Amino acid sequence: MKQSWKPGNMLYPLPVVLVTCRHENIDNVFTVAWTGTICTNPAMVYISVRPERYSYELIKKSKVFTINLTTKKLVKAVDFCGVRSGRQVNKFEAMQLECQEAQTINCPILKDSPVNIECKVNDILELGSHHMFIATVTNVQVDENCLEENGRLALEKSDPIVYSHGEYYDLNQVLGSFGYSVRKKKKKK
Ligand SMILES: Cc1cc2nc3c(=O)[nH]c(=O)nc-3n(C[C@H](O)[C@H](O)[C@H](O)COP(=O)(O)O)c2cc1C
Repeated sequence: MKQSWKPGNMLYPLPVVLVTCRHENIDNVFTVAWTGTICTNPAMVYISVRPERYSYELIKKSKVFTINLTTKKLVKAVDFCGVRSGRQVNKFEAMQLECQEAQTINCPILKDSPVNIECKVNDILELGSHHMFIATVTNVQVDENCLEENGRLALEKSDPIVYSHGEYYDLNQVLGSFGYSVRKKKKKK
């Protein structure tokens, strides 16, 4: 038997990311789960943000932000940056988050994040509780510690995490790889 539930957000698990922003001399970081890829070419992403967030004002004014992928090591900062506002506390200092600079936009990136995605806002869709910032990816910085010898990004080396129904999880098992269901097995010689 199935139950019918009223419409709600049930699309889980999701990536949970740390978004950094800067307007004039103010830097801030906050946690976002309403995020995703919306186009491959040009590379485009979105974040959906409540207008009452401090970061909302900053991003609306500067039109830039970075998405920083998260890891087991960052999970406490992920939670903290999602329950404390930059209006009251410097979250970089409180969580000892070291910053570097983005290369294509005027914005900090997180040093300990394996992948930093630099984004320029094209559009803001005022959907309801959240406004959707639609953005073009202008550069991606990748931690060399997550690269294999052939240059492949092995994100699993960073211990990535996901968010599902209020909880953070790690990913601990590979179940297959893209296209494995139709791939022919190599014949043994
Ligand atoms: C796991 C998690 C996911 C979150 N996802 C979002 C989100 O997608 N959009 C949003 O506006 N707020 C989200 N929040 C809440 C903000 O991160 C939170 O309100 C934060 O304190 C805002 O910081 P600021 O006021 O410094 O901008 C999330 C919080 C947590 C803990």
